Amino acid sequence: MSPLPSDPTVAELIRFGAEEFGRAGLAYGHGTDNPVDEAAALVFHALDLDHADAAEAYESKPGAEGARRVLELLAERVSRRVPAAYLMRRMWFAGLEFEVDERVIVPRSPFAELVHAGFRPWIDPERVRRVLDVGTGSGCIAIACALAFPEARVDAVDVSPDALEVAARNVARHRVGDRLRLLRGDVFEPVGAARYDLIVSNPPYVSDAEMDALPVEYRHEPDLALRAGRDGLDVVRRILAGAAAHLEPWGALFVEVGDSDQRLQEAFPRLPFTWLELEHGGGGVFMLRASEL
Ligand SMILES: C[S@@+](CC[C@H](N)C(=O)[O-])C[C@H]1O[C@@H](n2cnc3c(N)ncnc32)[C@H](O)[C@@H]1O
Repeated sequence: MSPLPSDPTVAELIRFGAEEFGRAGLAYGHGTDNPVDEAAALVFHALDLDHADAAEAYESKPGAEGARRVLELLAERVSRRVPAAYLMRRMWFAGLEFEVDERVIVPRSPFAELVHAGFRPWIDPERVRRVLDVGTGSGCIAIACALAFPEARVDAVDVSPDALEVAARNVARHRVGDRLRLLRGDVFEPVGAARYDLIVSNPPYVSDAEMDALPVEYRHEPDLALRAGRDGLDVVRRILAGAAAHLEPWGALFVEVGDSDQRLQEAFPRLPFTWLELEHGGGGVFMLRASEL
């Protein structure tokens, strides 16, 4: 391992951090998928640097005080094995910045790509007036939808009051409070008989056995946000049971189930799931039209 020079550049701090992370055997998957990107995110954050000026920043020297702040943050990442996003208390999703802490999962859903495409070709974005997000967490998908569909009203449901407090901060930050309602409750219960053009959900979908095998980093996230029973389908089953009653006839349901896709297919052999092929990876997202439910 190369030692850290006495007056290191940003690039040297990143390299040092990545080597430390590799040695400690950290797990990734909360916004980055490798030690170099993870270290770079923390170094830039500690020094309040802008990723847009990366080329210039790499060769700059932050001085003793800056280097101390960086090393403290890198050490915390290693000793507590906490995802970088919680240390930075922010995360980007669909090109937007969200506040996050351990009351919500770190936003990373492949839904960002669908939002970006206006859910084309599956729905006509011009027709979207009402959107429901089940299991909103930080509010990232609901807020991104509110901004992607400026004519739409969005309902965002979560069973966790803690998560809704974080979502409320993000709703205020993105100034969508006039069109986005945060509702506390179980799946469809808080929306009564309302119907939507678009229902989206990234619900909990990790089985009990998979939960036991997750790296420490994932244990900083709320159990309620990830764990979904013996086969990981507890919440998805309830979404499927209630979706038809909450969709307009032309509407569609989009749900992320990650690696539970096979189990879901086997549990509902007669449902004609369309599994979406996403350019930026992160499969396990299906679409069902109201008429298919
Ligand atoms: C995987 S997280 C997704 C959060 C956010 N949508 C995202 O993509 O980052 C699932 C969320 O569903 C919520 N949740 C769990 N069970 C629920 C239920 N029965 N009804 C409503 N929300 C639920 C959790 O509190 C958590 O915030």
